Amino acid sequence: MKPSNQLHSLNWQNGPVFVYGPPSSGKSTTGRLLAQALDVPFIDLDETIATESRMSIPEIFELEGEAGFRAREAAALQSVLTGGEKVVALGGGALVDPDNRRMVESAGPVLLLNATLEALLERLPDDSDERPLLTGNLTGRLESLLTHRREHYQSFPNRIETAGRSPKEIVWDCQVRLGAYWVSGMGPAYDARIWPGGLNAIGSALQQRALKGPILIVTDENVTAYYLHPVEQSLQRAGYSYHSICLPSGEQYKTIKTAGKLWEACLQAGVERSSTILALGGGVIGDLSGFAAATYQRGVAWVGLPTTLLAMVDSSLGGKTGVDLPQGKNLVGAFHSPRLVLADPTTLKSLPVEELRSGMAEAVKAGIIADPLLFNLFTQGWDAVLQYLDEIVRRAMAVKISVIEQDPFEQGQRAALNLGHTIGHAVELASSFRLRHGEAIAIGMAAEAELAEKMGLARPGLAQVIRKTLTGLQLPTRIPAELNQEQILVAMRSDKKRAAGSHRFALPLRIGQVQVGVQVEEAVILDSLRQASGK
Ligand SMILES: NC(=O)c1ccc[n+]([C@@H]2O[C@H](COP(=O)([O-])OP(=O)(O)OC[C@H]3O[C@@H](n4cnc5c(N)ncnc54)[C@H](O)[C@@H]3O)[C@@H](O)[C@H]2O)c1
Repeated sequence: MKPSNQLHSLNWQNGPVFVYGPPSSGKSTTGRLLAQALDVPFIDLDETIATESRMSIPEIFELEGEAGFRAREAAALQSVLTGGEKVVALGGGALVDPDNRRMVESAGPVLLLNATLEALLERLPDDSDERPLLTGNLTGRLESLLTHRREHYQSFPNRIETAGRSPKEIVWDCQVRLGAYWVSGMGPAYDARIWPGGLNAIGSALQQRALKGPILIVTDENVTAYYLHPVEQSLQRAGYSYHSICLPSGEQYKTIKTAGKLWEACLQAGVERSSTILALGGGVIGDLSGFAAATYQRGVAWVGLPTTLLAMVDSSLGGKTGVDLPQGKNLVGAFHSPRLVLADPTTLKSLPVEELRSGMAEAVKAGIIADPLLFNLFTQGWDAVLQYLDEIVRRAMAVKISVIEQDPFEQGQRAALNLGHTIGHAVELASSFRLRHGEAIAIGMAAEAELAEKMGLARPGLAQVIRKTLTGLQLPTRIPAELNQEQILVAMRSDKKRAAGSHRFALPLRIGQVQVGVQVEEAVILDSLRQASGK
């Protein structure tokens, strides 16, 4: 899926989303597909007006004039402003009236579809008779209408470019702007939402999705201090009964023993088959809670409330849950999709900077895999990254969702997400986890880009761009001098992606494109490891 080509995120919470733009810009098609993609109702305002008045739009114009039509339009608009989430396609002049515009913009975001006159003329179907303002000299009428409304259309901040893009790409762009995805393809589909401040409204979000109590909130000692109270308050307001369990923080607690504690907490909290577990925290809490939810009473619902960057853009999505064994990470687990993932980027403010930086490596990976504009943000350094944190979460989440949607059970393309991980995991392991996961992945991405160049897959200079970008974020790109390359190779052999005598990589070809399943001989890898070493 081609990513959005603009930086402009907006917030959508509960109400309607409006699709607007000039005649024939694709409002109805986009609106219908967007509603499908988000699994919410769709309303075509012109159709509503026609149904309610029992006249076609041309008939209304003929009998009542434009003023009559606009009065009906304003009344129809009023009727769609309330009643929960939906997508509404508006008529091409519906928001020219400042009162209508005010009313609509205070109810929900407006996505404006941008198109040139030529593109509109090409698309305008033979039903231009159905468009009373365009009857007669079509080109002339449309041109003058566009000239007249140019400033009006340009005054909407969320403009979606339609030129040269398929309806699917346009809809995906809308979803990235809204930070709203409906993730299907693996088990029951679920909502993934980016919602600044959303933790304060988790109670109503659960209610809306008919998720039931009693609720068990699972969190850790660091997250508790900041976010348990607002979550509990929100659940109280929504009338849920709940219990919470606060675990010690750290990977060393991602064990079957802790999962056992969660099963006991479920018993004490009276969690039933129909109840919900809330995972409030980073990837450790998400993996543990998801695993407890997958196994307690053979599976209960769970909701991810990720509070680290890594959890938002990676671990909360995809339905992998599990615990570690002394012999290795994530060796026991289950695929068990959450019922909702609600990422509140405001929680990143309290995240220690080294955790944020570590999570950033996964976001950079998303840019390299599929989103050059996202990658470009990272080339601007740490300050720019902090400024665009919300946008980074949206776009990196979008990349992961797009990949897992295409290949939910890792048959092929999902392996793209392993970029940087074949070497990265081994480096992490060889360092006995002294390196953070993100640091190891940064080293892995730089080394694997060099490998791709050496094999003639990547264009020359790619590794340098990636290395420079990671260094600009103060992430390491060289294998620490104290780590032995042979040791790293041994660690790679124990990795599950190994094939006999060689190893399988996802390698970058250019920013935005990755080749999966590239077999590389160990001698070539060793050479690359030497080159990537800080020695
Ligand atoms: N399931 C998957 O698909 C998947 C994918 C990638 C990683 N993972 C797993 O994710 C885990 C790593 O996750 P992580 O990096 O989020 O680590 P983490 O959960 O250990 O969180 C890192 C630290 O930040 C603290 N913290 C979390 N949110 C905070 C906030 N908003 N403010 C202040 N402190 C906060 C935590 O208490 C912890 O000390 C690993 O176990 C890894 O295996 C799973």
